[in-house]
Order: sequence, then structure tokens, then C-alpha cells
Amino acid sequence: MAGMDAFTGRLDPDMCVVTATAGGDRSGCLVGFASQCSIRPVRFVVWLSKVNRTYRVARNAPFLAVHLLTREQRALAELFGGRTGDSTDKFRHVGWQEEHGGAAVLDDAAAWFVGAVVRDVDGGDHVGFVLDPVAWGEREGSDDRPLLRLGDAVTIAPGHPVD
Ligand SMILES: Cc1cc2nc3c(=O)[nH]c(=O)nc-3n(C[C@H](O)[C@H](O)[C@H](O)COP(=O)(O)O)c2cc1C
Repeated sequence: MAGMDAFTGRLDPDMCVVTATAGGDRSGCLVGFASQCSIRPVRFVVWLSKVNRTYRVARNAPFLAVHLLTREQRALAELFGGRTGDSTDKFRHVGWQEEHGGAAVLDDAAAWFVGAVVRDVDGGDHVGFVLDPVAWGEREGSDDRPLLRLGDAVTIAPGHPVD
């Protein structure tokens, strides 16, 4: 591996699906750039690509929902990572419900939280949304299942490529 790929190519983060709801618009995409960024208060940051429809909706969203998937949920990752909301209504293909502040929460998520957007940070071609959790939940019986990671999802062709 050459250059910075020798570093980034060794990473295998847990994947999540981030959904955004604003002004009657709803969107969601698969995200690998995400991590806890504060302990007290507990905060989490998700990085959305500026080309994604989800980013455009998130810019006006007071809350985002973040979901963890288990390894056998690759089909869900393919729906949210391999298609763009510009041409597919992804929410027609999954069970979901409105939670805190109208955030869209996927029924099948292993674990999820809704976070209030406290700030956004321009990181380059992605923008970080710093989230203060306000509601959360988990699917019973899923806590001992391995999570879906980048290595499980890397062959999905992004629905909205950066280039
Ligand atoms: C393995 C993988 C990781 C991805 N990581 C991110 C990410 O961290 N942030 C992001 O905004 N998009 C990421 N994407 C791309 C979006 O999930 C994808 O382009 C999606 O189709 C965008 O949908 P939208 O246009 O409806 O928002 C990733 C895709 C894949 C396959």
C-alpha cells in the first residue's frame, strides 16, 4: 500500500446508517466515518459527504439518527450505501418510525440513537455533525452479534460517488 493508504487501509470501522429529516424531506446513507468524540457530555460525530443527498437534508436537520447494523444485515447496508435518495425512496423498502424530533429510526437496527446536532465541522469533502444523544434503543437479543464493519461493506459501490 502506498502513502496514506498504508494507514487508512488498515482501518476497519463499524458501519452505521445515518438518517436525516428536515422540512418534510427524509434521507439516509451508510457511513463509515463516525466515532464517539466526547465522554462528558457523551457526544458522537458522523461525517457526511457533501455530494450525498443525506448531507443536503442534514444541513437543515435539528436531529440525526445513527444506527448500528449486525454483520448479517448487509442488504440494509447495500440499500443505504449503494443507492442514492436522489433516485430511490429507501424508506419504502424498510420498516421505520418517527422518534424524537421526527427523526427516522430503522426498526431492524441492532442499536440506535437520535442526536441533536450541536455543531458541524468542515473536514474537506465531508462535514462532521457533532451529536448530543437525546433518545436511544436497541434490538433485543442482538448485543452478542458481530457488527457490520467496513470489511463487510467495502465492495458496495457508493450510490453517490465522491467523484
Ligand atoms: C463502505 C462505504 C462507506 C461509506 N462511508 C460514507 C461516509 O462515511 N460518509 C458518507 O457521507 N457517505 C459514505 N458512503 C457513501 C454513501 O453511503 C452512498 O454514496 C449513499 O448512496 C449516499 O446516499 P444519499 O445520496 O441518499 O445520501 C459510504 C459508502 C460505502 C459503500
